[in-house]
Amino acid sequence: MSKKILITGGTGYIGSHTAVELIQKNYEVFLVDNFSNSHSSVLQGIKRITQIEPHFTKLELTDKQAVAEYFADHHDLDAVIHFAALKAVGESVEKPLLYYQNNLISLLHLLENMIEYQIPYLVFSSSCTVYGEPDKLPIKETAPIKPALSPYGNTKQISEEIIVDLTKAEDNFSAILLRYFNPIGAHPSGLIGELPIGIPNNLVPYITQTAAGIRDVLRIFGDDYDTPDGTCIRDYIHVVDLAKAHIAALERLINAENESNCEVFNIGTGRGHSVLEIVHTFEKVNHIKLNYIIDDRREGDVEKVWADNTKAQKILQWKPQFTIEDALRDAWQWEKNYRGIKT
Ligand code: UD1
Repeated sequence: MSKKILITGGTGYIGSHTAVELIQKNYEVFLVDNFSNSHSSVLQGIKRITQIEPHFTKLELTDKQAVAEYFADHHDLDAVIHFAALKAVGESVEKPLLYYQNNLISLLHLLENMIEYQIPYLVFSSSCTVYGEPDKLPIKETAPIKPALSPYGNTKQISEEIIVDLTKAEDNFSAILLRYFNPIGAHPSGLIGELPIGIPNNLVPYITQTAAGIRDVLRIFGDDYDTPDGTCIRDYIHVVDLAKAHIAALERLINAENESNCEVFNIGTGRGHSVLEIVHTFEKVNHIKLNYIIDDRREGDVEKVWADNTKAQKILQWKPQFTIEDALRDAWQWEKNYRGIKT
């Protein structure tokens, strides 16, 4: 019998790509989402790629009663992959309580029910933001956790701590924390991708929306950093590679290969690219001229980060397959498909 996996934030950007990969490996997938930053049309995209309609329930994870009812109806789940969270750094600075309320209360409700119904495995969506401005590059999992630069970052740190404590207290509960670097790109089919509601905060959706004429101009936040071209450096990872890391983590838990009840892995490519490199690669692979200007630095931005991913390569036997060119081509393909742009 196929294993039953719950994906919270299942219609979101990373959740939907993970759903596709799981379905294609014959897992039975249950998605929940409150559509706060996604659309129900994503479900059609998943179905068109996989020929399978995932189970879906609109669920507000901060609603204790609703979550309890959901689990009472789905107590035979085998594992949970928890993506559902707010993730806009700037917004979190303006509305800290919203972030703590949403990201932490949701997690607590989920964990309470996992313990109640003895659902033993959790894969958690963490972030390289927990490392802050790193002392050493590339960043290893053993690097110190720095005071968070934003309430958003703090919710990820606190969430990790909550999960670690629970895995210590409960012998039959194990978790893997995946610290993502910067997910970009879209499914190569062009049928699902990143679909932020409102003005995008993140670089690549801002680029694709500028190319599509929805935004006038991309603002590059600072060109006076201590980097070769002066713009910030990040480790951009194709979202399908990231989705596959979740399958590797899940299978490690299910096959009881984990060495401790709580393990942590960096999920990045191990390579850094500057903002200008991303812009120019986007222009080159898609034969497009992008309208951009250099603007002031964005508050809270880290100068440079990229992952040491050797632990994931060795232990999860996971390796990124896609290049930055693939990711930027797929991102544009998706934006064009979604907007009905023909070129
Ligand atoms: C940050 C966090 C990441 C978190 C993500 C959630 C760090 C190091 N990273 O990603 O963990 O999951 O937020 O949203 O804390 N940029 C522009 N113009 C734009 C948009 C972005 O120049 O319009 C630049 C930024 O200055 C940055 C790069 O592009 O250098 C990437 O920015 P973004 O996509 O927002 O991601 P991070 O801030 O790196």
